[in-house]
Amino acid sequence: MFITLEGPEGSGKTTQALQLVVWLRQQGYDVLSVREPGGTDVSDAIRHILLDFTAGSINARTELLLFCASRAQLVSDRIKPHLSRGGIVVCDRFADSTLAYQGYGRGLDIDFLKALLRFATDGVTPDLTLLLDIDVDTGLHRKTDKTEWNRLDAEEVQFHRRVRSGYLTLAAEDHRRWVVIPADQPFATVTTRIQQVVGDSLKRRLGRQQV
Ligand code: TYD
Repeated sequence: MFITLEGPEGSGKTTQALQLVVWLRQQGYDVLSVREPGGTDVSDAIRHILLDFTAGSINARTELLLFCASRAQLVSDRIKPHLSRGGIVVCDRFADSTLAYQGYGRGLDIDFLKALLRFATDGVTPDLTLLLDIDVDTGLHRKTDKTEWNRLDAEEVQFHRRVRSGYLTLAAEDHRRWVVIPADQPFATVTTRIQQVVGDSLKRRLGRQQV
């Protein structure tokens, strides 16, 4: 099973992803935990260019292709092999981040992006995507530790508003894959909700396999 966590800045997604991994491993599942961009030597090198690069600006098309290049390597080296072994993959951000940030945020053509993403991921699609949704001002305010700020966090507020509403549009288009989880709740409440959603989804899959 392939699970992804998505959301705007400051949604607590990364900490929740790690909690989810611990919870699944406690139940005996073989879990691969990855985050994007990154996860292989090539992808980590690309992450460095994408997030920490300060010498000059990165063109929107260059940015798009770098995110896709990082993802292509991660899918082929780690995600696909783990799924083929029957394991669970938990990925902190995946192709939907590209639709939200480069598509809705930067304004690149969504249909073209979808075709490019099919190529980069070799058709690998999440079974379940959790959208940790949070109001943009609250999210950016939460991210007060500026040492963690990267090139994209520093975008204008309007950019982040387009990203958030883009995510909500994507979630509304596919209720079978996406579950929207309000992330402005206490941390433990969000964790419990995630466990409920993932637990139900695993049960349904198990039920289908036994039929
Ligand atoms: P990261 O430090 O991992 O932050 P976060 O905790 O928000 O996940 O930075 C990843 C940044 O890259 C984040 O601002 C979202 C952005 N991003 C894209 O613009 N497109 C993508 O395809 C991906 C995977 C991330």
